Amino acid sequence: MNDWIDIAALSDIPRLGARVVKTATVEIAVFRTAQDTVFALKDVCPHRGGPLSQGIVHGNTVTCPLHNWKIDLASGEANAPDEGCTRTYPIKVENGRVYLGDARRQAA
Ligand code: FES
Repeated sequence: MNDWIDIAALSDIPRLGARVVKTATVEIAVFRTAQDTVFALKDVCPHRGGPLSQGIVHGNTVTCPLHNWKIDLASGEANAPDEGCTRTYPIKVENGRVYLGDARRQAA
């Protein structure tokens, strides 16, 4: 069973940007696309740990601000030819509120 935590209004997350949610163990970047789809990734680039939350969203991808790797928001995988994967977290929008799957139970 999944518990959901209300973390923000959808309007609190900048479109084509992200908001960071801190848990006891991990910082999670919650992204909002042009279509108002949301995705949650660990805020650590699989290349050298850049803050993905400060990257630019295009389509369902974010470009890391440090060396421009492109990370798929749904899978957390780097686009080829780069290789690496960032952890994803369950996230959903209901009635204009954004809910994160209970991250307190998620290991970092
Ligand atoms: S740290 Fe993200 S591309 Fe290098």
